[in-house]
Amino acid sequence: MTIRAVVKGVGHYLPDRVVPNSEFEKTLDTTNEWIISRSGIERRHFAADGETTSQLATRAVHAALGSAGFDAADVDAIIVATSTPDHTFPSVATMVQNAIGNTKGYAFDVQAVCAGFVFALSNANALIVSGQAKSVLVIGAETFSRIMDWTDRSTCVLFGDGAGALLLVAEEGQGTNADRGVLSTDLNSDGRYKDILYVDGGVATQNTGVLRMEGREVFRHAVEKLAATAHTALDRAGLGADDVDWVVPHQANIRIIQSTAKKLGVGMDRVVVTVQDHGNTSAASIPLALAVGVERGQIKQGDLIVTEAIGGGLAWGSVVIRW
Ligand code: UT7
Repeated sequence: MTIRAVVKGVGHYLPDRVVPNSEFEKTLDTTNEWIISRSGIERRHFAADGETTSQLATRAVHAALGSAGFDAADVDAIIVATSTPDHTFPSVATMVQNAIGNTKGYAFDVQAVCAGFVFALSNANALIVSGQAKSVLVIGAETFSRIMDWTDRSTCVLFGDGAGALLLVAEEGQGTNADRGVLSTDLNSDGRYKDILYVDGGVATQNTGVLRMEGREVFRHAVEKLAATAHTALDRAGLGADDVDWVVPHQANIRIIQSTAKKLGVGMDRVVVTVQDHGNTSAASIPLALAVGVERGQIKQGDLIVTEAIGGGLAWGSVVIRW
Protein backbone atom coordinates (compact mmCIF):
# COMPACT_ATOMS: atom_id res chain seq x y z
CA MET A 1 0.00 0.00 0.00
CA THR A 2 1.31 3.45 -0.96
CA ILE A 3 -0.03 6.61 0.64
CA ARG A 4 -0.46 9.48 -1.81
CA ALA A 5 -1.19 13.16 -1.19
CA VAL A 6 -4.12 13.76 -3.55
CA VAL A 7 -5.50 17.17 -4.55
CA LYS A 8 -9.12 17.34 -3.37
CA GLY A 9 -9.74 21.06 -3.56
CA VAL A 10 -8.32 24.18 -5.17
CA GLY A 11 -9.19 27.85 -4.82
CA HIS A 12 -7.80 31.32 -5.34
CA TYR A 13 -8.35 34.94 -4.53
CA LEU A 14 -7.22 38.10 -6.29
CA PRO A 15 -7.67 41.57 -4.79
CA ASP A 16 -10.27 43.76 -6.55
CA ARG A 17 -7.90 46.46 -7.77
CA VAL A 18 -6.56 45.73 -11.27
CA VAL A 19 -3.61 47.86 -12.36
CA PRO A 20 -2.90 48.00 -16.12
CA ASN A 21 0.61 48.78 -17.42
CA SER A 22 -0.60 52.20 -18.54
CA GLU A 23 -0.79 53.28 -14.90
CA PHE A 24 3.04 53.06 -14.63
CA GLU A 25 3.45 55.26 -17.71
CA LYS A 26 2.15 58.19 -15.63
CA THR A 27 4.94 58.06 -13.03
CA LEU A 28 7.86 56.16 -14.61
CA ASP A 29 9.98 56.27 -17.76
CA THR A 30 8.34 53.11 -19.11
CA THR A 31 5.76 51.98 -21.67
CA ASN A 32 3.05 49.37 -21.95
CA GLU A 33 4.93 48.02 -25.00
CA TRP A 34 8.23 47.58 -23.07
CA ILE A 35 6.56 45.76 -20.18
CA ILE A 36 4.62 43.42 -22.48
CA SER A 37 7.55 42.67 -24.80
CA ARG A 38 10.12 42.07 -22.00
CA SER A 39 7.84 40.25 -19.49
CA GLY A 40 4.45 39.37 -21.02
CA ILE A 41 2.69 41.21 -18.20
CA GLU A 42 -0.38 43.31 -19.13
CA ARG A 43 -1.97 43.91 -15.72
CA ARG A 44 -1.72 42.80 -12.08
CA HIS A 45 -3.87 43.00 -8.94
CA PHE A 46 -2.86 45.09 -5.91
CA ALA A 47 -4.25 44.63 -2.41
CA ALA A 48 -6.33 47.48 -0.98
CA ASP A 49 -4.97 49.62 1.86
CA GLY A 50 -5.03 47.45 4.97
CA GLU A 51 -5.65 44.21 3.03
CA THR A 52 -3.09 41.65 4.26
CA THR A 53 -1.50 38.45 3.02
CA SER A 54 -3.40 36.41 5.63
CA GLN A 55 -6.69 37.86 4.39
CA LEU A 56 -5.92 36.92 0.78
CA ALA A 57 -4.83 33.45 1.94
CA THR A 58 -8.02 32.96 3.95
CA ARG A 59 -10.21 33.84 0.94
CA ALA A 60 -8.32 31.30 -1.20
CA VAL A 61 -8.66 28.64 1.53
CA HIS A 62 -12.42 29.14 1.78
CA ALA A 63 -12.63 28.62 -2.00
CA ALA A 64 -10.47 25.46 -1.84
CA LEU A 65 -12.40 23.94 1.08
CA GLY A 66 -15.68 24.84 -0.63
CA SER A 67 -14.64 23.11 -3.86
CA ALA A 68 -13.83 19.96 -1.87
CA GLY A 69 -16.83 20.12 0.50
CA PHE A 70 -14.29 19.72 3.31
CA ASP A 71 -14.80 21.07 6.85
CA ALA A 72 -12.10 23.54 7.99
CA ALA A 73 -12.21 22.02 11.50
CA ASP A 74 -10.98 18.67 10.12
CA VAL A 75 -7.75 19.97 8.52
CA ASP A 76 -4.63 18.45 10.12
CA ALA A 77 -2.00 20.94 8.91
CA ILE A 78 -1.81 24.35 7.24
CA ILE A 79 1.31 25.49 5.37
CA VAL A 80 1.56 28.99 3.92
CA ALA A 81 4.32 29.83 1.47
CA THR A 82 4.97 33.55 1.67
CA SER A 83 7.74 36.17 1.80
CA THR A 84 5.31 38.96 2.67
CA PRO A 85 3.82 37.93 6.04
CA ASP A 86 1.49 40.37 7.84
CA HIS A 87 4.01 40.50 10.70
CA THR A 88 7.49 39.15 11.38
CA PHE A 89 5.65 36.64 13.57
CA PRO A 90 3.33 34.85 14.23
CA SER A 91 3.10 32.95 10.99
CA VAL A 92 0.49 33.76 8.36
CA ALA A 93 -0.52 30.09 8.63
CA THR A 94 -1.63 30.49 12.27
CA MET A 95 -3.63 33.58 11.27
CA VAL A 96 -5.36 31.56 8.55
CA GLN A 97 -5.94 28.73 11.04
CA ASN A 98 -7.67 31.17 13.40
CA ALA A 99 -9.69 32.81 10.61
CA ILE A 100 -11.12 29.48 9.42
CA GLY A 101 -11.87 28.26 12.96
CA ASN A 102 -9.44 25.35 13.01
CA THR A 103 -7.96 24.39 16.40
CA LYS A 104 -6.95 20.74 16.01
CA GLY A 105 -4.29 21.24 13.33
CA TYR A 106 -0.78 22.70 13.29
CA ALA A 107 0.23 25.63 11.11
CA PHE A 108 3.50 27.11 9.88
CA ASP A 109 4.99 29.23 7.09
CA VAL A 110 7.58 28.26 4.49
CA GLN A 111 9.81 30.97 3.01
CA ALA A 112 11.49 30.13 -0.28
CA VAL A 113 10.36 33.29 -2.10
CA CYS A 114 9.05 32.56 -5.62
CA ALA A 115 9.82 28.85 -5.21
CA GLY A 116 7.90 28.83 -1.90
CA PHE A 117 4.85 26.98 -3.17
CA VAL A 118 6.93 24.12 -4.60
CA PHE A 119 8.77 23.82 -1.25
CA ALA A 120 5.48 23.96 0.71
CA LEU A 121 3.86 21.36 -1.55
CA SER A 122 6.84 19.04 -1.14
CA ASN A 123 6.67 19.43 2.65
CA ALA A 124 2.91 18.81 2.67
CA ASN A 125 3.48 15.65 0.66
CA ALA A 126 6.14 14.52 3.14
CA LEU A 127 3.76 15.06 6.09
CA ILE A 128 1.09 12.95 4.41
CA VAL A 129 3.37 10.18 3.15
CA SER A 130 5.01 9.87 6.60
CA GLY A 131 1.62 9.66 8.34
CA GLN A 132 1.96 12.96 10.25
CA ALA A 133 -1.16 14.40 8.62
CA LYS A 134 -4.12 13.11 6.63
CA SER A 135 -5.23 16.48 5.27
CA VAL A 136 -3.06 19.51 4.54
CA LEU A 137 -3.90 22.96 3.22
CA VAL A 138 -1.01 24.29 1.10
CA ILE A 139 -1.28 27.97 0.33
CA GLY A 140 0.79 30.49 -1.61
CA ALA A 141 -0.11 34.06 -0.65
CA GLU A 142 1.67 37.35 -1.24
CA THR A 143 1.34 41.13 -1.11
CA PHE A 144 4.50 42.05 -3.02
CA SER A 145 3.03 45.53 -3.66
CA ARG A 146 4.11 46.26 -0.05
CA ILE A 147 7.81 45.72 -0.81
CA MET A 148 8.17 47.59 -4.11
CA ASP A 149 10.43 50.57 -4.76
CA TRP A 150 7.94 52.59 -6.84
CA THR A 151 10.80 54.59 -8.37
CA ASP A 152 12.57 51.46 -9.71
CA ARG A 153 11.06 50.74 -13.14
CA SER A 154 13.08 47.52 -13.49
CA THR A 155 11.18 45.82 -10.63
CA CYS A 156 7.94 47.57 -9.65
CA VAL A 157 6.18 46.87 -12.96
CA LEU A 158 6.70 43.12 -12.59
CA PHE A 159 4.97 42.04 -9.38
CA GLY A 160 1.40 41.57 -8.15
CA ASP A 161 -0.67 40.36 -5.19
CA GLY A 162 -2.86 37.27 -4.79
CA ALA A 163 -3.33 33.86 -3.20
CA GLY A 164 -4.01 30.28 -4.19
CA ALA A 165 -4.66 27.17 -2.10
CA LEU A 166 -4.75 23.41 -2.49
CA LEU A 167 -6.30 20.86 -0.14
CA LEU A 168 -4.29 17.62 -0.13
CA VAL A 169 -5.79 14.47 1.40
CA ALA A 170 -4.16 11.07 2.07
CA GLU A 171 -5.38 8.30 -0.21
CA GLU A 172 -4.18 4.80 -0.91
CA GLY A 173 -2.51 4.35 -4.29
CA GLN A 174 -1.02 1.41 -6.20
CA GLY A 175 2.52 2.75 -5.97
CA THR A 176 2.70 3.42 -9.72
CA ASN A 177 2.90 6.70 -11.65
CA ALA A 178 -0.71 6.15 -12.69
CA ASP A 179 -1.76 7.02 -9.10
CA ARG A 180 -3.41 10.35 -8.40
CA GLY A 181 -1.45 12.68 -6.12
CA VAL A 182 2.09 13.97 -5.74
CA LEU A 183 4.38 11.57 -7.63
CA SER A 184 7.81 13.17 -7.18
CA THR A 185 9.61 16.32 -6.07
CA ASP A 186 12.97 18.01 -6.62
CA LEU A 187 14.16 20.86 -4.38
CA ASN A 188 17.37 22.91 -4.67
CA SER A 189 18.99 26.05 -3.33
CA ASP A 190 22.32 27.82 -3.66
CA GLY A 191 22.98 30.65 -1.20
CA ARG A 192 25.96 31.89 -3.21
CA TYR A 193 23.36 33.82 -5.24
CA LYS A 194 21.63 35.48 -2.26
CA ASP A 195 22.56 38.98 -3.50
CA ILE A 196 20.95 38.91 -6.95
CA LEU A 197 17.37 38.94 -5.60
CA TYR A 198 16.66 40.14 -2.07
CA VAL A 199 14.80 42.64 0.10
CA ASP A 200 17.07 45.31 1.57
CA GLY A 201 15.28 45.45 4.95
CA GLY A 202 13.98 43.22 7.72
CA VAL A 203 14.64 42.55 11.38
CA ALA A 204 18.30 43.57 11.08
CA THR A 205 17.42 47.04 9.77
CA GLN A 206 14.15 47.45 11.70
CA ASN A 207 12.28 48.36 8.53
CA THR A 208 10.55 46.22 5.94
CA GLY A 209 12.73 47.21 2.99
CA VAL A 210 12.10 46.92 -0.74
CA LEU A 211 12.89 44.31 -3.39
CA ARG A 212 16.19 44.53 -5.26
CA MET A 213 16.87 42.36 -8.30
CA GLU A 214 19.56 41.90 -10.91
CA GLY A 215 16.94 40.91 -13.47
CA ARG A 216 19.31 39.76 -16.21
CA GLU A 217 21.23 37.48 -13.83
CA VAL A 218 18.06 35.95 -12.35
CA PHE A 219 16.76 35.44 -15.89
CA ARG A 220 19.94 33.57 -16.85
CA HIS A 221 19.66 31.21 -13.86
CA ALA A 222 15.94 30.67 -14.45
CA VAL A 223 16.44 29.58 -18.04
CA GLU A 224 19.26 27.22 -17.03
CA LYS A 225 17.73 25.71 -13.87
CA LEU A 226 13.97 25.37 -14.44
CA ALA A 227 13.99 22.80 -17.23
CA ALA A 228 16.68 20.82 -15.36
CA THR A 229 14.65 20.57 -12.14
CA ALA A 230 11.49 19.62 -14.05
CA HIS A 231 13.44 16.91 -15.91
CA THR A 232 14.80 15.57 -12.59
CA ALA A 233 11.34 15.43 -11.01
CA LEU A 234 9.87 13.71 -14.09
CA ASP A 235 12.74 11.19 -14.10
CA ARG A 236 12.09 10.39 -10.43
CA ALA A 237 8.46 9.61 -11.29
CA GLY A 238 9.56 7.40 -14.21
CA LEU A 239 7.92 9.81 -16.67
CA GLY A 240 8.99 11.91 -19.65
CA ALA A 241 7.95 15.11 -21.41
CA ASP A 242 5.48 13.24 -23.64
CA ASP A 243 3.53 12.15 -20.57
CA VAL A 244 2.95 15.74 -19.43
CA ASP A 245 -0.56 17.15 -19.88
CA TRP A 246 0.18 20.58 -18.35
CA VAL A 247 3.27 22.46 -17.30
CA VAL A 248 2.21 24.93 -14.61
CA PRO A 249 5.26 27.17 -14.22
CA HIS A 250 6.03 30.03 -11.87
CA GLN A 251 4.64 33.06 -13.68
CA ALA A 252 7.53 35.57 -13.68
CA ASN A 253 8.18 36.24 -17.35
CA ILE A 254 6.63 34.83 -20.54
CA ARG A 255 10.09 34.54 -22.13
CA ILE A 256 11.30 32.31 -19.26
CA ILE A 257 8.09 30.24 -19.49
CA GLN A 258 8.53 29.78 -23.26
CA SER A 259 12.21 28.88 -23.16
CA THR A 260 11.68 26.39 -20.30
CA ALA A 261 8.83 24.71 -22.18
CA LYS A 262 11.04 24.48 -25.28
CA LYS A 263 13.90 22.94 -23.33
CA LEU A 264 11.47 20.49 -21.73
CA GLY A 265 10.10 19.53 -25.14
CA VAL A 266 6.54 20.56 -24.26
CA GLY A 267 4.55 22.80 -26.65
CA MET A 268 3.05 26.06 -25.37
CA ASP A 269 -0.42 24.54 -25.98
CA ARG A 270 0.35 22.40 -22.88
CA VAL A 271 1.46 25.28 -20.62
CA VAL A 272 -0.89 27.17 -18.29
CA VAL A 273 -0.10 30.89 -18.65
CA THR A 274 -1.51 33.58 -16.36
CA VAL A 275 1.42 36.02 -16.22
CA GLN A 276 -0.41 38.49 -18.48
CA ASP A 277 -3.19 38.93 -15.89
CA HIS A 278 -1.41 38.40 -12.55
CA GLY A 279 2.18 39.57 -13.03
CA ASN A 280 4.69 37.85 -10.77
CA THR A 281 2.87 36.94 -7.54
CA SER A 282 5.88 35.03 -6.14
CA ALA A 283 4.77 32.04 -4.03
CA ALA A 284 1.14 32.58 -5.05
CA SER A 285 1.74 32.25 -8.78
CA ILE A 286 1.62 28.44 -9.14
CA PRO A 287 -1.49 27.81 -7.01
CA LEU A 288 -3.17 30.76 -8.76
CA ALA A 289 -2.30 29.24 -12.14
CA LEU A 290 -3.53 25.80 -11.01
CA ALA A 291 -6.86 27.29 -9.87
CA VAL A 292 -7.27 29.31 -13.07
CA GLY A 293 -6.26 26.28 -15.17
CA VAL A 294 -9.04 24.24 -13.54
CA GLU A 295 -11.53 27.09 -13.95
CA ARG A 296 -10.68 27.43 -17.66
CA GLY A 297 -11.29 23.69 -18.12
CA GLN A 298 -7.63 23.08 -19.03
CA ILE A 299 -6.69 20.90 -16.02
CA LYS A 300 -8.85 17.83 -15.45
CA GLN A 301 -8.76 14.91 -13.00
CA GLY A 302 -6.10 12.40 -14.01
CA ASP A 303 -3.95 14.95 -15.88
CA LEU A 304 -0.19 14.88 -15.31
CA ILE A 305 1.00 18.27 -14.07
CA VAL A 306 4.58 19.52 -13.74
CA THR A 307 5.14 22.64 -11.66
CA GLU A 308 8.49 24.45 -11.59
CA ALA A 309 9.68 27.66 -9.92
CA ILE A 310 12.78 29.68 -9.03
CA GLY A 311 13.25 32.65 -6.72
CA GLY A 312 15.42 34.48 -4.23
CA GLY A 313 18.07 32.47 -2.46
CA LEU A 314 18.39 31.20 -5.09
CA ALA A 315 15.89 28.45 -4.40
CA TRP A 316 14.24 26.36 -7.11
CA GLY A 317 12.38 23.12 -7.62
CA SER A 318 9.67 21.09 -9.28
CA VAL A 319 6.76 18.88 -8.22
CA VAL A 320 5.03 16.30 -10.42
CA ILE A 321 1.37 15.69 -9.59
CA ARG A 322 -1.31 13.56 -11.15
CA TRP A 323 -4.40 15.75 -10.65
O1 UT7 B 1 10.20 35.49 -9.57
C1 UT7 B 1 11.53 35.44 -9.26
C2 UT7 B 1 12.31 35.29 -10.44
N1 UT7 B 1 12.35 36.54 -11.18
C3 UT7 B 1 12.47 36.48 -12.46
O2 UT7 B 1 12.43 35.43 -13.01
C4 UT7 B 1 12.74 37.77 -13.22
C5 UT7 B 1 13.88 37.52 -14.16
N2 UT7 B 1 14.21 38.63 -14.99
C6 UT7 B 1 13.39 39.16 -15.94
O3 UT7 B 1 12.25 38.77 -16.08
C7 UT7 B 1 13.96 40.18 -16.88
O4 UT7 B 1 15.35 40.26 -16.71
C8 UT7 B 1 13.34 41.60 -16.72
C9 UT7 B 1 11.89 41.60 -17.22
C10 UT7 B 1 13.42 42.02 -15.27
C11 UT7 B 1 14.11 42.61 -17.58
O5 UT7 B 1 14.17 42.20 -18.92
P1 UT7 B 1 15.55 42.21 -19.70
O6 UT7 B 1 15.27 41.86 -21.09
O7 UT7 B 1 16.49 41.31 -18.94
O8 UT7 B 1 15.96 43.73 -19.62
P2 UT7 B 1 17.29 44.34 -18.99
O9 UT7 B 1 17.28 44.24 -17.51
O10 UT7 B 1 18.46 43.80 -19.74
O11 UT7 B 1 17.10 45.87 -19.40
C12 UT7 B 1 17.10 46.30 -20.76
C13 UT7 B 1 16.89 47.80 -20.76
C14 UT7 B 1 17.80 48.52 -19.78
O12 UT7 B 1 18.22 49.73 -20.42
P3 UT7 B 1 19.71 49.84 -21.02
O13 UT7 B 1 20.64 49.57 -19.87
O14 UT7 B 1 19.78 48.77 -22.08
O15 UT7 B 1 19.75 51.23 -21.54
C15 UT7 B 1 16.87 48.89 -18.65
O16 UT7 B 1 17.26 50.07 -17.98
O17 UT7 B 1 15.55 48.12 -20.38
C16 UT7 B 1 15.57 49.11 -19.36
N3 UT7 B 1 14.40 48.94 -18.51
C17 UT7 B 1 13.20 49.47 -18.79
N4 UT7 B 1 12.79 50.22 -19.83
C18 UT7 B 1 11.50 50.60 -19.83
C19 UT7 B 1 14.30 48.23 -17.35
N5 UT7 B 1 13.05 48.30 -16.88
C20 UT7 B 1 12.35 49.06 -17.77
C21 UT7 B 1 11.01 49.48 -17.83
N6 UT7 B 1 10.61 50.24 -18.88
N7 UT7 B 1 10.08 49.14 -16.90
